[in-house]
Amino acid sequence: MNNVVAELNKKLGKQKTSSSGKSPKIIVVCSGKGGVGKTFIASSLGITLSRQGFSTLLVDMDISGANIHTYLGVPPSLLNIRHFFEGKKSVDEIIVKSPMTKLSFIQGFWDSWNPIEISLEQSMIFFKALKTLSFDYIVLDISSGQSIANLEMLRRADEKLVITDPEPSTIERTYRLMEAYICHAIKSGATPESYQTLIQLLRDQRHGTRTEPFSLKSYINEHEGIQKNTFADINHHPLKLILNGSRSHLDQDLGHCVKSVCRKYFDLNIEYAGSIDFNNAVWQSARKREPVLVAQPFTPLAGQFMSICKNLVNAPTLRAAG
Ligand SMILES: Nc1ncnc2c1ncn2[C@@H]1O[C@H](COP(=O)(O)OP(=O)(O)OP(=O)(O)O)[C@@H](O)[C@H]1O
Ligand SMILES: [Mg+2]
Repeated sequence: MNNVVAELNKKLGKQKTSSSGKSPKIIVVCSGKGGVGKTFIASSLGITLSRQGFSTLLVDMDISGANIHTYLGVPPSLLNIRHFFEGKKSVDEIIVKSPMTKLSFIQGFWDSWNPIEISLEQSMIFFKALKTLSFDYIVLDISSGQSIANLEMLRRADEKLVITDPEPSTIERTYRLMEAYICHAIKSGATPESYQTLIQLLRDQRHGTRTEPFSLKSYINEHEGIQKNTFADINHHPLKLILNGSRSHLDQDLGHCVKSVCRKYFDLNIEYAGSIDFNNAVWQSARKREPVLVAQPFTPLAGQFMSICKNLVNAPTLRAAG
């Protein structure tokens, strides 16, 4: 493993920095639960951004089920992320052009005969390598759940998108992901003892053995051993929630509810970036291997993606590019 990491670091050293001198904005798309539409959203955002004139790279980082190529309607590329992680190719050598102008992708790992594990260290090297590329935007579709690698990629991302659907079981897992994200941020700026004391407190709170009202933010401000600016840092680049598969106004409103619950119980400011309707055309076009935004470019669904993109890119830039 150390050899591979050394090889990756060597490759990273040789990597040219972006020709524009400007590093790309990295958008990480994650979720607490699988199957909520991450890949559909990541690929549709990639298509929307590229249509607005931004050079965009889609990266399939879901090592358990790479399928961005399916949503782009192309066969899986033999050249894939595995070649990077094995130290055989640099990141710019594994980029594949998509059929759409200004949109490229990095094929995920799809060789189930010989699965790979990606360590936190490897994913951070990959992340740094992505930052050297000459794209305006890089959209990362990562696996669901709260692995340390996922939480760290989310922490480092310029835009942090959390996808949920309206199902109660998904909403619960979305809260768990957000809680894990806060704890990950606290842990990186705390002594091990202070962090353990805080976790015990949170556990007691959840089990109902501690009944006094509790504010995470005040606790951090009043106790030694934990960085005071933890919340300022994570609220400065907030998590942005997207509610996918909405079937009613009530579903759409769930995004606002999650936002106020995060504020009340975690002292966390999140943004509600918008909702995407449930639409049969989505799964139908996935079966036909034709992106729904390509098959039906002028629909309310396309408008919903456009308004999420406006949230990610500042509006004047989007108009100028469009
Ligand atoms: N808004 C939507 N309307 C209708 N169907 C949808 C919508 N979003 C996603 N789907 C369908 O839901 C299924 C799961 O979507 P997708 O593969 O994007 O989820 P995922 O979160 O990436 O899953 P995984 O965790 O396995 O990677 C697919 O069949 C997709 O076509
Ligand atoms: Mg997926």
